Amino acid sequence: MILKCVTCGHEQDADAVAYRCPKCGDPLEIRLDTERIREVARSSWRERPISVWRYREALPIHDETKIVSLAEGGTALHRCERLGEKLGLRSLFVKNEGENPTGSFKDRGMTVGVTRAVEMGVKTLICASTGNTSASLAAYSAKAGVRCVVLVPSGNVALGKMAQAVIHGAQILQVRGSFDDAMGLVQELSLRHTEIYLLNSINPFRIEGQKTAAFEICDQLDPASPDSVFLPVGNAGNITAYWKGFNELVDLGFTQSLPRMMGIQAEGASPIVRAIREGREEIVPEPRPETVATAIRIGSPVNWKRAMRAIRDSGGAAEAVSDGEILEAQKLLARLEGIFVEPASASSIAGLARLVGDGKVDRNENIVCVATGHGLKDPGAVSGMSSPLVMDASMESIERCLGLFEASKAPVSQGGK
Ligand code: F0G
Repeated sequence: MILKCVTCGHEQDADAVAYRCPKCGDPLEIRLDTERIREVARSSWRERPISVWRYREALPIHDETKIVSLAEGGTALHRCERLGEKLGLRSLFVKNEGENPTGSFKDRGMTVGVTRAVEMGVKTLICASTGNTSASLAAYSAKAGVRCVVLVPSGNVALGKMAQAVIHGAQILQVRGSFDDAMGLVQELSLRHTEIYLLNSINPFRIEGQKTAAFEICDQLDPASPDSVFLPVGNAGNITAYWKGFNELVDLGFTQSLPRMMGIQAEGASPIVRAIREGREEIVPEPRPETVATAIRIGSPVNWKRAMRAIRDSGGAAEAVSDGEILEAQKLLARLEGIFVEPASASSIAGLARLVGDGKVDRNENIVCVATGHGLKDPGAVSGMSSPLVMDASMESIERCLGLFEASKAPVSQGGK
């Protein structure tokens, strides 16, 4: 197992802790021995229940007895007929990552990243977070019995996510600044103090865990790649992970085609969308990102380069959606499909709706939207949508309210005799 720089190709042993290439500073990626995996995987993966660890031969862990697991992965791929019909699509699926143990896709990365930390005997784990990463790291650190420190931006971290970090016993440092400031600080801290292990998505082991969602989608489609996959993009680790996963499946010979990767950002936090739209090679960081989708309120994504490559190499697209479109998509998914997601998650649906409206999506495609986090994490986002009607505890007021009052004046049949 080696770590390879995604830009200059520099290779090093994966057993030493490293987040970035020592030569050019770009992210490092784990490379596995696909020949070896192919042999074992063909026979064993199908026999195991669908989950992150079903694919353990493709995960960079030496000692299976050390796995730190809360039963992550195995999330449903819902066929969404009512929403598909509303958008005029033939075949729409939603991968509901809110079904993970702490309610977001981060658990896939954390089970692998924290297991790696335990293998190395690390005692302090750290991350910067808009909320979900900290909730997940806090839970997995608790399970592993190690110290967890999380840096969150001041203001705007959703209540449910903060509650999770608190109850799992993380040390929470709220910095006066943005997520990007916090991200810069944890990267520097983990270089200065190498006993502190960084578990943001710049950590290659996180990406390995998250790539299993792509494996699951292909297995759930029996086995086949979808035509396109819509993902919310914040720090850009997840789209990187999915693209790696789909490519590995093709290398392994388990699927034939690659999907188009569709990266969706919020308008107020869309450096990747702007770079792609303007045909630039590099992003211009957004100094003051702003959006109701606080999970993706990120102006300087650490994985921007890999995300742009995934979108371009796959023939995909990047789109930005407004807060209004995000909240509308959140409501549609909840009311048409019974799936409650947080605003950031709904941006994938909003992006799909936008691109369908612009005639940029083939209505006959097999489309997967990834819903990244559960709606209960951010109850504040729906508080303004409607409020309950308050009334007397009487039959008359309830019947009036339901428009049944006139009918109720007709004689009531007692039935029976
Ligand atoms: N959706 C949700 C619900 C998220 O929490 C995040 C990221 C994303 C999408 C974007 O994923 O960063 O891999 O592009 N949340 C991080 C956090 C930043 O700290 O919880 P990404």
